[in-house]
Amino acid sequence: MEYSFPHYLLSKQSVDDRALNKDVLDSLKGNLPTRPIKIIEVGAGIGTMLRRLMRWDIIRNAEYVFVDEMAENIEYASAWIPQFAIEAGLSVERSGQNLLRVSDQTRDVRIHLERADVFDFIQRNNAPADLLIAHAFLDLLLMPESLPKLLSLTKNLAWLTINFDGVTIFEPVMDAALDERIERLYHKTMDTRPTGGDSKSGRHLFAHLRNAGADILAAGASDWVVHAAGGKYLEDEKYFLHFILHFFEESLTGHVELNADVFAGWLRERRAQVERGELVFIAHQLDFLAGTPTSLRGAVSRLSIESHNPRLDAKKNRKSQIVDRS
Ligand SMILES: C[S@@+](CC[C@H](N)C(=O)[O-])C[C@H]1O[C@@H](n2cnc3c(N)ncnc32)[C@H](O)[C@@H]1O
Repeated sequence: MEYSFPHYLLSKQSVDDRALNKDVLDSLKGNLPTRPIKIIEVGAGIGTMLRRLMRWDIIRNAEYVFVDEMAENIEYASAWIPQFAIEAGLSVERSGQNLLRVSDQTRDVRIHLERADVFDFIQRNNAPADLLIAHAFLDLLLMPESLPKLLSLTKNLAWLTINFDGVTIFEPVMDAALDERIERLYHKTMDTRPTGGDSKSGRHLFAHLRNAGADILAAGASDWVVHAAGGKYLEDEKYFLHFILHFFEESLTGHVELNADVFAGWLRERRAQVERGELVFIAHQLDFLAGTPTSLRGAVSRLSIESHNPRLDAKKNRKSQIVDRS
């Protein structure tokens, strides 16, 4: 099987569509201004959230700034956004490689694609948005230090969705002790990435948001629940499951606490379960809608943002730890 990250993000769309917490979404809809708005989406991938917001008729007139650090994702988005917009009956204008405008008689969305590390983008951005979106992204970052910087990108709302929260379930149980060990070790890899990450980021966001001065306007579960119906997985969800198993393989192959043959056998059997339509996969996640109080707007001084890129700090700290040990 060929593993392509853009293909994984495409296959994730229907899983996320079901998972997104609809009460939190209703709260977002109720709080969005009716005038044209500016949205900044960070860790935006290939544009699936933009497509969803247009399909669900949540945005009509907007400037949409789309930030992702992977060139492959930005290139994919640059080709794919016009494609899905045309399929939805919209006209597309392109000015240069990274500016797109999709519109019809009632909708007008101007899209800026930015290939950038989010913290570099924060340093140079001087026009905060009405809405910040971070979807399946915050659990990859150093917390809590990243949060005030991210919140400086919005004057008003932050919709922070699909934040992993420490529970992964594969059914049927193969070997309870082995399943538990693999899940625990996988979560640990999220907690020890040098660039940040937290396998319980969902629950921790309650305190992190409050400490950053944000109001939690709504919160709720957004679990991924993937199963076959009538022996078949929906849409492209079979690929999604294979990619999830690939994440496990990449993260845990060679782990000292796992016997290589036993782990290879576990992966083989889980893959066979996908092929037979037997595997059920559940991941517990949480969504938030946060409001940035007036007192916080602009309170994160440019100086403090400029002097701290948490990812670079993490790398520096790691280097100095290595030096310290030698
Ligand atoms: C799990 S993917 C989610 C993508 C998209 N939100 C979705 O759900 O389809 C995380 C995305 O964050 C991007 N990313 C990771 N670290 C980043 C950083 N420091 N700055 C900008 N983008 C980053 C990755 O390139 C990837 O596209």
